[in-house]
Amino acid sequence: MQNFAQYADWAYLIGAVLFILTLRGLSSPMSAVMGNRYGMMGMGLAVVTTFFLASNANVVMILGAMVLGAIIGIYRARTVPMTQMPETVAMMHSLVGLAAVLIALAAVFHQGMTHDTVHRFELFVGCFVGAITFTASVIAWGKLSAKLGARPLKGVWVKPVQALLFLLMLALGGEYFVSENVQAFIGMTGVALVFGYFWIAPIGGGDMPVVVSLLNSLSGWAAAGIGFTLNNSMLIIAGSLVGSSGAILSYIMCRAMNRSLLNVLFGGFGQTATVDVVDAGERSHRAGSPDDAAFLMANADSVIIVPGYGMAQARAQNAVKELADALKSKGVRTRYAIHPVAGRMPGHMNVLLAEADVSYEEVFEMESINSDFAATDVVLVIGANDVVNPAAKDNPASPIYGMPILEASRARTILVIKRSMATGYAGLDNDLFYLDKTMMVFGDAKKVVEDMVKGVLGGGH
Ligand code: TAP
Repeated sequence: MQNFAQYADWAYLIGAVLFILTLRGLSSPMSAVMGNRYGMMGMGLAVVTTFFLASNANVVMILGAMVLGAIIGIYRARTVPMTQMPETVAMMHSLVGLAAVLIALAAVFHQGMTHDTVHRFELFVGCFVGAITFTASVIAWGKLSAKLGARPLKGVWVKPVQALLFLLMLALGGEYFVSENVQAFIGMTGVALVFGYFWIAPIGGGDMPVVVSLLNSLSGWAAAGIGFTLNNSMLIIAGSLVGSSGAILSYIMCRAMNRSLLNVLFGGFGQTATVDVVDAGERSHRAGSPDDAAFLMANADSVIIVPGYGMAQARAQNAVKELADALKSKGVRTRYAIHPVAGRMPGHMNVLLAEADVSYEEVFEMESINSDFAATDVVLVIGANDVVNPAAKDNPASPIYGMPILEASRARTILVIKRSMATGYAGLDNDLFYLDKTMMVFGDAKKVVEDMVKGVLGGGH
């Protein structure tokens, strides 16, 4: 075992390098597949090494857990639809949090295992971060999968309760740290579990993207905490990588919404979004058929397609690619514009378009295409709403004021595919739909786009 420990350090070092290559690969859609492969290799190496490193291991139990976990993982990976990825990710974070709590409790109760001050600190921090991650991720899963309402928990009492729980959790953790009082440790774990609920429940649906990425970060720090408890360098490195990359992603997303992290977590548009609904029925809008829209697009010089959550919901990405191909065959310059938080998870639209074999050269991020809208003949908004809402730019009273948007309203003609005049995720009415130059095309995105393809191919230029 002594000899193996020597090799284990090398194996962990190689694993750590593979994880770094994974993150590097995942930073671009073009290298993402290879990035994932590096991740699988790194994780495989880490698991096998840890398995052989364990002393007095209950081999049957470990193998049983590994086989069961692999069966559930393979089944879930094969069956989960793209639209359910965000809640699946939230659920996976909750499992990391739960693992941190269980390992910390096992270490605290382990007969004959003594804990010095440093170790007690690691246990206390790893356990409460894990417990908060667990309940917060379960609530995020419930909100994203619509098993729980997306409405935020409200009331003047919410913030004092949060503060009280947080202080109580720290006090109990401190008591354990100072006196190794096991009851205090259990109490701290319980309070952290409750705090996780009160932390996430007041955050509204519109802020869930940042919350999910923050939970990703927390689950990484919880894993790093377990790494210290178990004295496992691989877990410390992998946990820190997940923790810091999640934190960077949260920062990038906050920037995309023009918000600070504190504003997202302790008050902001998510809190008011779901109640700030204007009665859309009183305003008038123009509606047309897929054929009308096809005629307008086929006769344009340039079209920008803006996909949103509705495209994912309708699984319309392949039809959208066909439409873009049909337009290109008619000589229309066709591009895609992606907002950083379009859909329900980071990169949601990019993944769907990549799945439909859309070339990366045709896909543009918000910053690089926003200045082109004014010179574009037609913008086709497919199941997107909040990310093209001009209120974010024009209306200081709007809860989303300041959030950068795709400036679709500046195009010469705007076509919007959605099923009704209903609001999007943030629950806000959208002035874009009522402009004179906007034509709504109502229906399920897939069916409407398929009809548009027929219209474009059927008509001349
Ligand atoms: P939303 O604002 O949610 O709008 C989607 C629109 O699609 C809805 O107005 C809906 O209108 C329409 N739709 C739904 N199903 C459809 C279907 N089958 N066919 C046609 N249309 C359909 O989406 P968005 O513009 O992509 O904005 C994203 C929002 O989600 C933002 O508020 C963002 O903060 C939030 N969010 C983002 C993330 C990340 S990281 N991307 C994560 C969580 C939340 P109808 O009902 O009338 O059809």
